[in-house]
Amino acid sequence: MKKVLSLVLCMMMVLFAAAAFAAPATLESVKAKGELVIATSPDFPPFESLSGDGSVTGIEMDLAAAVAEKLGVKMKVEQVNFDSILLGVMNGSYDVGISGFSVTEERKKNVLFTNPYCLAAQAIVVAEGSPITGKADLADKLISVQTGTTAEVYCMQNNYQTESYTSNVDAELAVLSGTVDAWVIDDLTAAEMVATNNAKDGKKLVILPEAMTTEPYAFAFAKESGDLVETINGYIDELVKDGTVAGLFAKYNAPYTSPETAK
Ligand code: ARG
Repeated sequence: MKKVLSLVLCMMMVLFAAAAFAAPATLESVKAKGELVIATSPDFPPFESLSGDGSVTGIEMDLAAAVAEKLGVKMKVEQVNFDSILLGVMNGSYDVGISGFSVTEERKKNVLFTNPYCLAAQAIVVAEGSPITGKADLADKLISVQTGTTAEVYCMQNNYQTESYTSNVDAELAVLSGTVDAWVIDDLTAAEMVATNNAKDGKKLVILPEAMTTEPYAFAFAKESGDLVETINGYIDELVKDGTVAGLFAKYNAPYTSPETAK
């Protein structure tokens, strides 16, 4: 019993030490370890989703690979619940959050965003036959959203009744089962998840033509990672300008909207 206890104590000390040494990434630290540690929530096709072999694939994983290559480092992908990513980046557990992060003023208080590489919108999804046809019909209705997302913030700030789910898959199931009346989710992910659902037998989903908001996507770093962000901004701008990013969207059959459209 004593042995087990001291073993547990030992392990706890190692864990504490590791946490104490974890520091936000810098250009130097990433180059020194030869690796960019990416936190992502792979429930967000076509940006990141799990492939059959358990690895994460999608537009952002390819984009991250292109950036890592330019940096001259390998990339390591950690699968993390969406609502825990930014905290983990801030405390140095991960170098960067790459998970369809929308740039917002609120998040900018805590993290440093790279330049954006695309523009997305928040779509409204309902079950086929629903009387909801647009934003105006959502008052008094229950909406599912993913915890920690801009969809959640937007709906709560605008006094919609929301039900938050850690995983996007559960937010989708909620609208399929009728637990909620609508689901608010980023447009390209909506398109892909709805298409996958509608290809199966059973209840069909519909994406409404009216979007809730538009938002640019970027990578999220800790405030201390300024030099790294500056370097990566150069790479991202280049990859947007030379058509690489548009090419990645085409590879995953998704329409591309340049971040310039927002300006
Ligand atoms: N764009 C939204 C946000 O920044 C949703 C991102 C969700 N990402 C994910 N991998 N599930 O909050």
